[in-house]
Amino acid sequence: MSSNVLIASNRGPVSFTLSDDGALTMRRGGGGLVSGLSEAFKDSDMLWVCAALSDGDRSAVRLVPGGRLDRAGYDAGRLRMLDIPPATFQRAYNAIANSTLWFVNHLLYNTPNSPIFDRRFRREWASYQEYNGAFALALAEEAAHGAKVMIQDYHLTLAPAMLRVERPDLRISHFSHTPWAPPEYFSLLPDDVAAEVLCGILGADHAGFLTARWADAFMDCCAAILEARVDRAARTVTHEGRTTRIGVHGLGVDGAALRARAAEPDVEARLTALREQVGDRRLIVRIDRTELSKNIVRGLMAYSEFLAEHPEWHGKVVHLAFAYPSRHDLPEYREYTAAVQRCAKEIEDAYATDDWDPLILNVNDDYPRSLAAYRLADVLLVNPIRDGMNLVAKEGPILSPRCALVLSREAGAAAELGADALLVNPFDISGTAAALHEALIMPDAERGERCARLRAAATALPPRLWLEEQLGALS
Ligand code: G6P
Repeated sequence: MSSNVLIASNRGPVSFTLSDDGALTMRRGGGGLVSGLSEAFKDSDMLWVCAALSDGDRSAVRLVPGGRLDRAGYDAGRLRMLDIPPATFQRAYNAIANSTLWFVNHLLYNTPNSPIFDRRFRREWASYQEYNGAFALALAEEAAHGAKVMIQDYHLTLAPAMLRVERPDLRISHFSHTPWAPPEYFSLLPDDVAAEVLCGILGADHAGFLTARWADAFMDCCAAILEARVDRAARTVTHEGRTTRIGVHGLGVDGAALRARAAEPDVEARLTALREQVGDRRLIVRIDRTELSKNIVRGLMAYSEFLAEHPEWHGKVVHLAFAYPSRHDLPEYREYTAAVQRCAKEIEDAYATDDWDPLILNVNDDYPRSLAAYRLADVLLVNPIRDGMNLVAKEGPILSPRCALVLSREAGAAAELGADALLVNPFDISGTAAALHEALIMPDAERGERCARLRAAATALPPRLWLEEQLGALS
């Protein structure tokens, strides 16, 4: 049976691990995109097309005809996992998606040394084209006549145009979960590659972004690089005779579901353990993947400067910094994790006493523990260099009725939460340190009022509605 609504993304709703004895275990996938979409995917009859990411995934897929895990009895919703040759996948995912497109859109390059676009890059780019082609083909096979196809993120910028060639009858959307770079930075890409990415997305009928700022940047790139006709007020881009509508859909959180999850016994147990560990001290919490764009090192430097400036807080505050492993195939990420650990050790060495641990750094993924930390937070620090949205900034105020939010003005979430957060320039360590202090001394009544408004803004567009909006845009 072919499908009327399809989702495509690199990471899927489940992943598999292969143990030494050859047994496969299925787990729910992680990350903001997956948790948002999974919520809406649950109990629907959509088909999700994703890539096999690991050896475990490949082993599972190879046992299943056509990669349809649901037909092999897995309780994963209607799911097709693509077994893309590992070397092609690695080049597409690590070298292009995570090292090139992620770096461009988050402005992460250290330009005296990188990027370098040479023969090796061209090979990687060819793999990215192949990977996008595999998705386009699978979607073309699975989609019913006139079906709606929602393609997600920077891994799949070329797939919309490729799919349109195969299946002009489909209604196609693309959604970017990342920021978008301004044209002068996007133009670091080789000209043909920059144009191919933009034209790839313009293959969709609807191109969605998390904030007006990223949508505007995309339209600016289309105007500057493709010389496309851009109507900023109407939010349309016309290129080579086709018009793509540009939409802004600020993904939020399902507050009731999050609160219910955070009230479960495993979270309660961790909450009790954390309380015992930190006593009645005030808590500054951060929760991130160990991701270059999350700016964890500067966050720790700001905490260190706050401690230097405010000895009156010594012994009375603890910083819980959760930095979960991410993208460890990339050397920059391994080095970054080491830098985070070095910086944490410096703080310990400078300030820890026999009865006070100023910083608890946790680098193991533990979701219930994160939820417990949110519930205890007096201050939530979210200071990315640049971020598509940042759902941590939205989840915190939902779970902690009295947390003050210190938020980077470069996070997409600042567009919706900025009025009630303490906004910081993520590069300004002293400014961030001052904001941490301001957050700690904020009067209770003001905390409560701000938090209530943050909560309302954070839950305005929960995943289900967010997805419905995009489906609606394809009607
Ligand atoms: C960001 C991207 C998602 C991605 C997530 C985790 O939020 O927008 O598409 O899934 O990071 O990254 P990973 O590489 O682990 O999938």
